[in-house]
Amino acid sequence: MTSVRVERLYKIFGPQPTELVRRLEAGADQEEIKAAGATAAVVDASFEVGEGETFVVMGLSGSGKSTLIRMLNGLLTPTSGQVLVDGEDITGMSAPALRAMRQQKMSMVFQHFALFPHRTVLDNAGYGLQIRGTSKSEINEQAREALSLVGLEGWEERYPQQLSGGMRQRVGLARALAAQTDVLLMDEAFSALDPLIKREMQDQLLNLNAKLGKTIIFITHDLNEAMRLGDRVAMMRAGRIVQVGTAEQILNEPADDYVATFVKDVDRSRVLTAASIVEPQATAPPGEDPVPSDTPMADLFTRMSARAVPVPVVDEQQRVLGVVTPAAVFKALCREVPAVGDGEHAEIEEASDV
Ligand SMILES: Nc1ncnc2c1ncn2[C@@H]1O[C@H](COP(=O)(O)OP(=O)(O)OP(=O)(O)O)[C@@H](O)[C@H]1O
Ligand SMILES: [Mg+2]
Repeated sequence: MTSVRVERLYKIFGPQPTELVRRLEAGADQEEIKAAGATAAVVDASFEVGEGETFVVMGLSGSGKSTLIRMLNGLLTPTSGQVLVDGEDITGMSAPALRAMRQQKMSMVFQHFALFPHRTVLDNAGYGLQIRGTSKSEINEQAREALSLVGLEGWEERYPQQLSGGMRQRVGLARALAAQTDVLLMDEAFSALDPLIKREMQDQLLNLNAKLGKTIIFITHDLNEAMRLGDRVAMMRAGRIVQVGTAEQILNEPADDYVATFVKDVDRSRVLTAASIVEPQATAPPGEDPVPSDTPMADLFTRMSARAVPVPVVDEQQRVLGVVTPAAVFKALCREVPAVGDGEHAEIEEASDV
């Protein structure tokens, strides 16, 4: 499996980029860079993405997300810093070596699908293998398998224009999967889709990756999407990564006002899960059906509205992790609402002792 590490990465567009990196290191701000007629698209980015991790890069338009991801697979050369893929620095690699690295290790899924209109779904899905010179029969076999993974069995001989947007993006995903690389780079891959289809695609990606265990670097400007998909989320602002953390950490301990403002509108009831409020306990209270640790707060709330009692939480192997109490659910959901007095918490606490 492949891991990706980034060390003090910079990308400056414009004149005298190296000199501007020096000035940024010495404390220059974006205004100063702008005054020099340049753009600091990525500034001092460092992070590591573990094998099998889904790492989401989140930020407003122009914050540097695409520039960052393009440096990860060598489509852009950093002004300074290192990109280590499996421990090997790719920043000094020749173009052919980079191409080979991409083919072996990293596939990309694009925002606007990037399908060839005159090729069938099967040929589109096999494209990544074709440019690698794989045999026709092997290409077709792997492309068919990838299409069936994304639920497009039976559509192999159709053309992109006969497909809906969601299906086209499934072909894009199948193309990346057929290449059988360990790493998937996804730059706003679901942004062009309708909200419902987008959600379906997110579910599909989560289900698929529970099986495949790929390392995914996913870019989005949709915070709900970031929190849903990411094992960890990196928050980018004006080229800098201002916070890296789990959804819970970012929601509950935003690093600065920018992040705090960003997360204000997030749907806490969907993002926060039982895992974040479980109170460790070796045995479950008898008589209550357990819930998995990734159960969203909204579902816990619904259940506890019917009966306000502590609920056991279990891991994937059905081992008891502890319990969640109605009070903890209530508190997690109402964190931003100062009007909730301690009295009400106490009432819920009391109800949970039934
Ligand atoms: N080739 C380039 N030449 C000059 N400036 C560039 C180039 N590519 C990007 N930029 C600038 O770098 C900054 C970061 O751009 P980037 O595309 O990485 O942002 P982004 O976060 O992906 O935005 P979006 O959400 O709109 O896709 C922007 O100010 C952009 O104008
Ligand atoms: Mg972009």
